[in-house]
Amino acid sequence: MDDDSLRGWQLRSLFRIAERRDQLIGCLLLVMLSGCSVDQHDHPELTSGQQLFDFHCAPCHKKDGTGIFLKGVPPNRDTDLSVWEIIHKTEKGSGDNSKMPRFQSMPDEEAAKIAIYLKQLGSMKTPAK
Ligand code: HEC
Repeated sequence: MDDDSLRGWQLRSLFRIAERRDQLIGCLLLVMLSGCSVDQHDHPELTSGQQLFDFHCAPCHKKDGTGIFLKGVPPNRDTDLSVWEIIHKTEKGSGDNSKMPRFQSMPDEEAAKIAIYLKQLGSMKTPAK
């Protein structure tokens, strides 16, 4: 690798880290301000499971569902939960000890699209880093 491409690679890595950090801060801010995390559903432009997942879940679980270990967020792409269980967990939560927010205002259809997408994600190969 020559100097230029090395520098390019370093820059890209830095951007990626900064982007991830911004997403997380945004997520944390929302949690603090609204008390309901990213439980806002006034987003007609988001229609596919992937778009909805990227918006609601990726700030914590990352777009590829591998989680953010250092923030205590586990991967969810390989979850053993069924589609129905994921929908239930998303809307109703899973007990007081869970650090994952409940999306009480999420429409069922949206939760279903996300759950189906997440199961698809799990059946795909982990993308190369
Ligand atoms: C604020 C961060 C945060 C957001 C946003 C978030 N999660 Fe989570 N999620 C967690 C944490 C922390 C856990 C581990 C605790 C638990 O299982 O409840 C978790 C666990 C899970 C699990 C269980 C993983 C397993 O091992 O079976 C699933 C499934 C899941 N999340 C799906 C989702 C979906 C779908 C969304 C979007 C609608 C979402 N999460 C949004 C933090 C988050």
